[in-house]
Amino acid sequence: MSWDPHAYLTFADARTRPAAELLARVPAQSPARVADLGCGPGNSTALLAARWPNAEIEGIDSAPRMIAAASATELRARWTVADIATWQPSDLPDVIFSNAALQWLGDHKALLPRLMGFLKPDGVFAFQMPRNYDAPSHRLMAVAAAAGPWADKLSAIPARVMAPAEFYFDVLAPMAAELDIWETSYLHCLEGGDPVFRWTRATGLRPYEQALEGAEREGFLETYRALLREAYPRRDDGKTLFPFQRLFVVART
Ligand SMILES: C[S@@+](CC[C@H](N)C(=O)[O-])C[C@H]1O[C@@H](n2cnc3c(N)ncnc32)[C@H](O)[C@@H]1O
Repeated sequence: MSWDPHAYLTFADARTRPAAELLARVPAQSPARVADLGCGPGNSTALLAARWPNAEIEGIDSAPRMIAAASATELRARWTVADIATWQPSDLPDVIFSNAALQWLGDHKALLPRLMGFLKPDGVFAFQMPRNYDAPSHRLMAVAAAAGPWADKLSAIPARVMAPAEFYFDVLAPMAAELDIWETSYLHCLEGGDPVFRWTRATGLRPYEQALEGAEREGFLETYRALLREAYPRRDDGKTLFPFQRLFVVART
């Protein structure tokens, strides 16, 4: 799947805030090495570099366009194109951080212990993932996908589900000296036309959009956009409210 750094950064403040709130709970004082998995255009990596100016920081992302955008920043970090599913650190990190990326990978039961196993003793694994697959913004992707001549082409896209917070506790507790798990529901207040459409189009909608082309793609997008307008009406003050739930995990070895 390809990514568009520019579209992704349209809501940069709202997307980076969970990274800051996750980072605030990371109990590492002066880590030597820090990895940012799924670093995107470097917005989460910038927070890590500011908090630990003496750390060696590596941003890892599977999308070459994201790594190109990150490399073009002034950030003091090493950038690597790699898939988190197979990534292995060359030197063991003290902190593995991941904001809004691990939801794209399957088999968390195997993946999360594998990543945590890369940490140095007394290391910290901190990640955040969206937890809004039951919300209209995501449910309506499947509704629009089934509602037109494009349905066959989209039928193989798996419905996304996220295990409950207790699952993450059970998976990581055997390896963790401390485990801090919480959820936050943000009420994003978005401006402009079709803001929820513009939000998901830069992230969760991409597998659908990229499976189609031409008139079919336009038809699908218009169907989804119309459904979103009903689900998230623009208020009289011009703003659109977009509730968004997220799961946070901080595990110390
Ligand atoms: C929603 S963005 C998050 C960017 C940034 N971390 C932030 O805090 O805003 C998700 C990123 O995860 C990356 N990603 C998705 N699957 C990946 C994988 N299997 N391996 C590495 N990166 C992946 C995408 O390329 C994208 O840049």
